[in-house]
Amino acid sequence: MTTLVENLLSRTSLAGAFMTDPAPSDDELRLILGAAQRAADHGRLQPWRFFVVRPADYDAFFDRMAAAATRQQGDPERYTQNREKYRLTARAPLLVVAAAKIDTAHKVPAIEQAFAAAGATQLVLTAAHALGYAGFLFSGLGVFDVGFKAELGLTSTDHLIGVICLGTPNGPGKPGPSAAEAVEKGLAATAMQWTAAGGASTWRT
Ligand SMILES: Cc1cc2nc3c(=O)[nH]c(=O)nc-3n(C[C@H](O)[C@H](O)[C@H](O)COP(=O)(O)O)c2cc1C
Repeated sequence: MTTLVENLLSRTSLAGAFMTDPAPSDDELRLILGAAQRAADHGRLQPWRFFVVRPADYDAFFDRMAAAATRQQGDPERYTQNREKYRLTARAPLLVVAAAKIDTAHKVPAIEQAFAAAGATQLVLTAAHALGYAGFLFSGLGVFDVGFKAELGLTSTDHLIGVICLGTPNGPGKPGPSAAEAVEKGLAATAMQWTAAGGASTWRT
């Protein structure tokens, strides 16, 4: 039986270009976005926001995202090139935009609110994978554009984390390390132990 942890260890990303129908059903999306509600959350502020975008609105959404990236670059001639980047991404049958809604007046530091929203975003990818769907989180310069944030009802102090593509795998994706390889390499590079005597050092079992 695949345990929850085995399922976590097997997650990899697959770009929207390699996705097809079906998207998660409404009931499945409820589970996926529901899982995100269980992110660690200092102050229980629920500082995450998710915007579901369906294919009927992709053209308008990507037009705005490309315009936002172009504004950030300060070079209007790059709009067409920026917009083209989303042509294959549009094969994903569902998009979920992930954001951090920051209460700047709250005693919980803004960065901790952003951390919580990032954790919630990862739970979306995790839950989608657990249900057998492919997921991919992408950003680009447009996420930093105040005008684009405003089009989503967000303010300049909120953060657009990125856009999550969700769908059914339809191809191998770009070559990359397997999930198992990534875990081994990641453990070697990132898992540390700390002791009072020796400080931080490589973690060994
Ligand atoms: C906030 C955030 C933004 C990202 N933006 C991009 C992006 O714009 N383009 C991209 O190729 N990968 C982006 N990534 C990385 C991919 O989502 C993915 O994690 C990466 O390709 C590694 O694949 P893996 O999840 O299978 O290890 C982003 C990740 C995070 C956390």
